[in-house]
Amino acid sequence: METGIPAQILEEADFLRKEIRRHEYLYYVCDAPEISDREFDRLMERLKRLEEENPALVRPDSPTQRVGGEPRAEFETFRHSAPLLSLDNCYSFQEVAEFDERVRKGLGPETEYSYLLELKIDGLSIALHYEKGQLVQAVTRGDGFQGEVVTANVRTIRSVPLQVARRGPEDSFSPPEWERFEVRGEIFMPRKEFARLNREREMEGESLFANPRNSAAGTLRTLNPKVVAHRGLDMFCYGLLVDGRPPFETQIQCMDWLHAFGFKINRESTLCRTLADVQAKAEEWEAARADLPYEVDGAVLKVNQVRLQERLGSTSKFPRWAIALKFQAHQVTTRLQDISVQVGRTGALTPVAELEPVRVCGTTVSRATLHNQDEIRRLDVRPGDFVVVEKGGDVIPKIVSVDLSLREGNPPEFAMPLFCPVCRSAVFRPEGEVVSRCVSQECPARIKGNLFHFASRRAMNVDGLGDALIDQLVDQGLVGDIGDLYLLSREKLIGLERMGPKSADNLLAEIEASKKSDFSRLLYGLGIRFVGERVAKVLAEHFGSMDRLSAASPGELEAIPEIGPRIADSVHFFFRQPQNQDLLVKLGQLGLRMESECSVRRLPRLPWKGLTFVLTGTLESLAREEAHAAIESLGGKASSAVSKKTSYLVAGKDPGSKLTKARQMGVTVLEEEPFLALLAEARAVAGPEETDPSPIPPYRG
Ligand code: IVH
Repeated sequence: METGIPAQILEEADFLRKEIRRHEYLYYVCDAPEISDREFDRLMERLKRLEEENPALVRPDSPTQRVGGEPRAEFETFRHSAPLLSLDNCYSFQEVAEFDERVRKGLGPETEYSYLLELKIDGLSIALHYEKGQLVQAVTRGDGFQGEVVTANVRTIRSVPLQVARRGPEDSFSPPEWERFEVRGEIFMPRKEFARLNREREMEGESLFANPRNSAAGTLRTLNPKVVAHRGLDMFCYGLLVDGRPPFETQIQCMDWLHAFGFKINRESTLCRTLADVQAKAEEWEAARADLPYEVDGAVLKVNQVRLQERLGSTSKFPRWAIALKFQAHQVTTRLQDISVQVGRTGALTPVAELEPVRVCGTTVSRATLHNQDEIRRLDVRPGDFVVVEKGGDVIPKIVSVDLSLREGNPPEFAMPLFCPVCRSAVFRPEGEVVSRCVSQECPARIKGNLFHFASRRAMNVDGLGDALIDQLVDQGLVGDIGDLYLLSREKLIGLERMGPKSADNLLAEIEASKKSDFSRLLYGLGIRFVGERVAKVLAEHFGSMDRLSAASPGELEAIPEIGPRIADSVHFFFRQPQNQDLLVKLGQLGLRMESECSVRRLPRLPWKGLTFVLTGTLESLAREEAHAAIESLGGKASSAVSKKTSYLVAGKDPGSKLTKARQMGVTVLEEEPFLALLAEARAVAGPEETDPSPIPPYRG
């Protein structure tokens, strides 16, 4: 339904859709972008604009439509066309040889077969259903027979094609003639995204995900696709089914087809003719697993020929034609010397395992979080115990268990302190929560945490304000809140450890420059619980100013898409605290940005506010109504009679008696030319006119 839209627009939209899909493919599937992120954003913005102006252009498979629809209350369930089987596991090459023996026996000694060896991606299996080349449904594994429909979330994964298109060479495969087909694969969270997400969650005082797999699982089951879209999930495809079976003779051909039609496949997959090939490749992968940008937990060996797979069949749980060779978890045992307690920015007390330093996976580990009292109880871990520490790649080390056989005597259980270890204030653990918190707002640990967050790169980006310096500033009483940073002077700074005049000047320049940070960065930097970067942007955009945001009721906040009751309550609570109100006044007075750039731009600036114009005679280039409208749009007043309050008399051709009166009263008279020049100047100050009137009233501050 694109009728009524000019052909030129149709063509441009079509071109943009294709270009964006191509660049998405190059970036997300091939990891080989051809254009910068900025150029890509520009293409996307242009398409969004065209679609906004011509809603009939919007199609569900448009790249602009990856996120759409409202958050759901729950997921529907769906019965799989063929069960999503699991894989039988083995842990040694001896067992791989035994598997091969079973395969040989099952097929008969004459049958020739080969194996495809794939990496076992540590994520969640998913089935994608396509109809007429369009993604129509994505379903989780569930119990293997039926899973949950998570289509809206999976649509946000940029490497998943919404519409299938050939990417490989023309002669590689004929286009999919199947009415329906199904692609199976693994959704995962790349390590980098996992680390970023946990960093953000830590900043926001939220519980951390234990590993990328859990965080991919949690994300996929998030009810709001907009949240999912910011979590950087990805997918490797490893199966293609038409009417419940692979449509080609071999697994390799299925993978080649997937690749040719824009799906992301793992390029490590290797065809193996002998068990020696399998062993060599699997050992190579295991040795290099920490270098991969995603987590793998083993290798999967699959009989390559589909006909032979079908002959071997499956048990109720596993195919008989495939097996997973699990890699060793990176685990080591070390002694827990003590459990210390850290106080974070939100006052949360976190028990930390102080370990006898030990090498795991190429790095030395001496500390690991124990999360909270419940986790300590679950592990039954006590100071002096020998604990098993696990680490995969660059992922945070984790204590997985206690070796009770090595426990000496009956050491006392650890108890969370009743007073803050930093400021000695009381500790409070709200009912139903697992986290204990220091209640004092003045706790130096909290102040330090707040400063660190405020100065961080994604907040106010004050380069040079690190942990060590913050410790000194707070401990020496130079800084008691984030506002005090802006009151620092050269004199105060010099004399601190490792702070010469030059570094002091650099730091002061950085602090001064941070005043210009966007309102949304400031909002994020305030460290309001549950207000991460994304939420800060949403709030900044919606309210446009600190004043309006601080006046918002929980109901108003919750009415915003993406803002749930938890965030709404936390934001509302923050702005009700007198010490926070004082801090905001202080920050405003210090010249930080208390309103959005975009609201400033979208709000008409009114350079002629307070000025009154009177027109007489005829203007050549403007009708009188137009001139009046122009004056008013700039905040001026157009009046018909000259008085003491008249700022300018604009005199056109054949002026009337008003000119004489104005002259008598000493009112400035402008002829057409100078008036037009003044108008142009005022318009430039006011900024571009917006067709869409802003709902944001001016900042009161
Ligand atoms: S094939 C019938 N291939 O591992 C074949 N699975 O432990 C079933 N997995 O449920 C799956 N990488 O979620 C296959 N290259 C790969 C895989 C893979 C990861 C997951 C998949 C499966 C689980 C079994």
